[in-house]
Amino acid sequence: MRQANRIVAAAHKLAATMMQPGIRTDEIDRAVESLIRAEGGKPAFKGYRGYPASICISIEDQVVHGIPSARRLQSGQVISIDIGASYKGYYGDAAATHACGGVDLLRARLMDATDLALSRAIRQAKAGGCLNDIGKIVEKTALEAGFSVVRDYVGHGIGTQMHEEPQVLNFDNHMPGPELREGMVLAIEPMLNAGTDVVRSLSDGWTVVTADGKPSAHFEHTVVVREAGGEILSWCDAPMWGDKSD
Ligand code: MF3
Ligand code: CO
Repeated sequence: MRQANRIVAAAHKLAATMMQPGIRTDEIDRAVESLIRAEGGKPAFKGYRGYPASICISIEDQVVHGIPSARRLQSGQVISIDIGASYKGYYGDAAATHACGGVDLLRARLMDATDLALSRAIRQAKAGGCLNDIGKIVEKTALEAGFSVVRDYVGHGIGTQMHEEPQVLNFDNHMPGPELREGMVLAIEPMLNAGTDVVRSLSDGWTVVTADGKPSAHFEHTVVVREAGGEILSWCDAPMWGDKSD
């Protein structure tokens, strides 16, 4: 899983350099797929329930699962990129939202709040805690910043399959849920919307968009539950946990 996630992290670094106005989203997909394969991995999304590409790239009001295409990025947009890879049967999964060119204050704050929600959630991924601590801190962080949390899509356990138990909600479920145990591996992935939390799917069968057309941001890491908080597997240069303090 470390190696699968190292490949995912390297793919994100490459993708980040490509988030430029004018680039076609399928060019980023092609570059990421090449990198994953060159590192000995397999793109986890390609063929998953018939998904046609190696990345999900979700622009502006697209929340998750945007399909790469001939569409070109424009300055001022927020772009979420989600990448999964497997290596020797083990999975890695991570997502990040980038500014293409300059973005306005609303978008900058939305990305910051989502990233902060993930950082705080990772800090809560500690042995002896409970699963609901993660959702609680994500929801609190979103609401304090004046944003909403997507409820229809969730994080997940990850291991020899991309999606394993348990589901990792991004909101308070008002029940403690299972105890977090040392060594559990979770993909934590808050999705925050600037406006309503209501989302809908497009007729392509994949792309999820906000109901009000306002922008959305998404960050995800694969983390191991540890005594001191989550250990991030999907970021090469990250410290052992919570790289942001508040
Ligand atoms: N990365 C998504 C997740 O975290 C999965 C993408 S769905 C796929 O669950 F079909 F694109 F693979
Ligand atoms: Co995921």
